[in-house]
Amino acid sequence: MLEGRPFKGKFYLITGGGSGLGLEISKTLASYGAGIYIIGRDKEKLSRAKSQIEDLGSECGYFSVDIREYETVRGIIDNVFSSYGIDGLVNNAAGNFISRTEDLSMNAFLSVINIVLNGSINITLETGKKWIEKKRKGSVLSILTTYAETGSGFVVPSAAAKGGLNAFTKSIAVEWGPKGIRANGIAPGPFKTEGAWKNLIPDQSFEDYLVNKNPMKRLGNVEEIAELAAFLLSDYSSFINGEVIRIDGGEFLKGSGQFNDLSILSDEQWENLKSRREKK
Ligand code: HXC
Repeated sequence: MLEGRPFKGKFYLITGGGSGLGLEISKTLASYGAGIYIIGRDKEKLSRAKSQIEDLGSECGYFSVDIREYETVRGIIDNVFSSYGIDGLVNNAAGNFISRTEDLSMNAFLSVINIVLNGSINITLETGKKWIEKKRKGSVLSILTTYAETGSGFVVPSAAAKGGLNAFTKSIAVEWGPKGIRANGIAPGPFKTEGAWKNLIPDQSFEDYLVNKNPMKRLGNVEEIAELAAFLLSDYSSFINGEVIRIDGGEFLKGSGQFNDLSILSDEQWENLKSRREKK
């Protein structure tokens, strides 16, 4: 989508970059010339991702660590900034599962909140401090979800964490904007990645339900998010700050408009309504 290699000479760090959406974003940024650092838990996945990124002609380094190991992550940021550092950060790593809330332990809540909210805050805070100390510009992109705004039943730890990350992202956008640091979010609707589907989609009928209720009658493709991510991290969006862009085929709005579900009416029912009106 972007012209040429707008990220040439720049470096980006993507959490959860070894697979799924994180890998797609990493590859897209690499195809536009960026050097990439990825963080993830699975060393084998990271190593495979590194090869794919290098095949696109970019440099790639990886760190095998759980982003809940806050001290280790701070050490990694220190290490990265002891050389060139990074120009942007993508808070993509997530944890999530479906459950009735009354079935959850506090540990279940913490396992998700410690990844999604505290992990993202830890790494953003450390990176932001470096950018400010070195008087460098930077861009933070947080992968949220459409329910970060509304909350959602049955994924309550994730809703609480993403809601917090939504507020954090918008808050630092305003506070750090004058220092040349932008912060934006992407709020995806249904995108079929291995991690999300394994943890969130109980069976095929629920996937069919998601497709059917979407105005575009399909799921999203990860490349669609990756291109948006590239745009939001690039200088093409240098005046976009503190925004969360929804990318869901209109699913969110469909759920809000009171009469949207009138699409269930048949042509015959519409004709009947029309003739009732004409008789008046
Ligand atoms: C109820 C559960 C549970 C489940 C774990 N727990 N899974 N409770 N239902 N399905 C509870 C455990 O019983 C335990 O509590 C606590 O959570 C920690 O569990 P662990 O397995 O020890 O945790 P851990 O190994 O740290 O794994 C973290 C995780 C896991 C979040 C639970 O799912 C994970 O690593 N996920 C990463 C990948 C992922 O989730 N990707 C999806 C992101 S998609 P007790 O009390 O027993 O100790 C996404 C998109 C949103 O977020 C939008 C979609 C449309």
